[in-house]
Amino acid sequence: MATEEIIQRVSFLRKELDRLNHEYYVLNSPTADDFVYDRLMAELAELEQRNPELQSPDSPTVRVGSDIIREFVQVKHRYPMLSLSNTYSKEEIEEFDARIRKETGTDDIEYVCELKFDGTAVGLTYRNGVLAQAVTRGDGEQGDDVTANVRTIRSVPLRLQGTDYPEEFEIRGEVVMPLSSFERLNGEREEKNQTPFANPRNAAAGTLKMQDSAEVAKRGLDCCFYFLLSENPPFDTHFDNLQKAASWGFKVSPNMRICRSIDDILQFLNQWDTERKNLPYDTDGAVIKVNSLALQNRMGLRAKSPRWAVAYKFKAEQAYTLLLSIDYQVGRTGAITPVANLQPVQLAGTTVRRASLHNAEQIELHDIRTGDTVIVEKGGEIIPKIVGVDKTRRPAGSEPTTYADTCPVCGTKLVKPAGEAKHYCPNDSGCAPQILGKIEHFVSRRAMNIEGIGEETADLMFEEGLIRNIADIYDLTKDRIVGLERMGSRSADNIIEGINKSKETPFPRVLFALGIRYVGETTAKKIALAFRSLDAIRNASAEELLLVDEVGDRIAQSVTQYFADSGNIAIIERLKAAGLKFELDAGDVEMLSDKLQGKSIVVSGNFSRPRDELKQLIEKHGGKNAAGVTSNTDYLIAGDKMGPAKLQKAEKLGIKIISESEFMKMINEPS
Ligand code: IVH
Repeated sequence: MATEEIIQRVSFLRKELDRLNHEYYVLNSPTADDFVYDRLMAELAELEQRNPELQSPDSPTVRVGSDIIREFVQVKHRYPMLSLSNTYSKEEIEEFDARIRKETGTDDIEYVCELKFDGTAVGLTYRNGVLAQAVTRGDGEQGDDVTANVRTIRSVPLRLQGTDYPEEFEIRGEVVMPLSSFERLNGEREEKNQTPFANPRNAAAGTLKMQDSAEVAKRGLDCCFYFLLSENPPFDTHFDNLQKAASWGFKVSPNMRICRSIDDILQFLNQWDTERKNLPYDTDGAVIKVNSLALQNRMGLRAKSPRWAVAYKFKAEQAYTLLLSIDYQVGRTGAITPVANLQPVQLAGTTVRRASLHNAEQIELHDIRTGDTVIVEKGGEIIPKIVGVDKTRRPAGSEPTTYADTCPVCGTKLVKPAGEAKHYCPNDSGCAPQILGKIEHFVSRRAMNIEGIGEETADLMFEEGLIRNIADIYDLTKDRIVGLERMGSRSADNIIEGINKSKETPFPRVLFALGIRYVGETTAKKIALAFRSLDAIRNASAEELLLVDEVGDRIAQSVTQYFADSGNIAIIERLKAAGLKFELDAGDVEMLSDKLQGKSIVVSGNFSRPRDELKQLIEKHGGKNAAGVTSNTDYLIAGDKMGPAKLQKAEKLGIKIISESEFMKMINEPS
């Protein structure tokens, strides 16, 4: 049992961490540095681990999430989750104001104007100052219980500040993905060859519905609150209630304003139509609400929206122009992107000549044809897009677009992998942009890191015919490099030195540098550790590759295909002859064996050695630590005083339960 002293310390640490979180994530003004925060967090985590009876769902330690898979439970909303009636027209805002004045019979009206955050709605219930439940909008009547995911959002208070909050209340807000998190996430997705999210709204909604809250925790969501619901709210106006909520620790937008006339409202709309572009997250409009709760009640509700509020949507900037022709571009990965050549047109301050058409499905969906007058829009995305066609202006005799079926560069027949939106040119070793893509990737910092050869030099060397593939790099001589445009003797020396140094690159990075489709940095590392040499990988079957953590069908197939290509093998043989590392060095990683390769193991209870030591051993022998018992668990290592629930579940699922000494025997046996 935890002593009184420990209980006090845990309570102190939680309060302190909550306070630092609020300063950092809500107020944007931290007073402590990361080191102090991390130390307090580590201390709390350790105390909770040693005293499981003190664990609590409102502890700051739950913010890191867990990888236990859950299904979402449906929850009925206590107050239906309404939406808003929308308009794009300022006249309709004037009509709204006139209606409110008429129906309430008073001219002394206060409105609150706020920004409309572009994300996904959640309703959070707090009981006695503690976050009890978070539910998505769903169909407005009931939604998904996403409490575990919402707990990972740093700006959401798990425990409120002060004492003057209602015993139970609901607060609604919009979960958004800040633009900085969005860009980082999409960058990572592109690197892993995953389809990027179209905009931050989709990314926020998709993230909130993930099963793995540990992943949610990494994605940097935020939440802005805009509506307090309670049987006994602290004040009788919307504005004051939100200010009060801010004092309890909620993130409430500082950009809301009380307006008393239509002119005030229109001024707010005009101001924020421009200024919203400087905010760190997307907004798609403004919301105008009657401030007095008494008047709100008097106005009442429609079926799906309140009569006391309206949303004004900002217009995405659009232009009409002529589609002159469609080009097909081949990316460095072989992905084909159709690009529209437009009659130049002014849009949001720049001249637009080209716009992305994304893929064949988009062209088909809008039936976009050469000669059409198309509508170009600059929304949240940087590259303008075609959002529609003015079919009334379609010239007679126009033909539907037939999508390219061969590569515009090398003429190879295109393929469209199942489940992907894009077409690809499969000729990855003979199609110029793809070869160049491979060379650029190979020399890049995170791959072979060849100093002196940046993207530009690689392009030049390729164009001049000095290198036609990655193996040619190791045949370069100073004389040949000096012959290049603007290349001095010193630079050439640098390049040769960089090339020689790159031969020391550890095997996992060499494997990544080869540019096997879908094999990113992490996957390359895992495969390298599991097989230890390139020859072993080359001889592995798809089934064997599938045993590696994170390797699925798509990656396994891509790897076997890569090694089935004689052109690739010839290149590998040349790289080997040049002295590149195609085997793990002893010092690369502290891997002891791969005896537990692909095994998912749960450790629970007390042991003769610290639990962390067991967990490290699992990883050093290639296994994976899992937090909870599921049907995918291979072993449960059961210690003293382990939770009866875990044991029961493992027994029910027929999972192998082993003792500490059985585990040690397993890893220490000679293979
Ligand atoms: S008030 C009954 N205020 O817009 C009032 N909603 O189209 C309900 N939204 O479901 C909503 N920012 O997800 C309100 N400042 C704001 C908002 C906001 C974004 C979202 C919310 C709502 C949707 C309605």
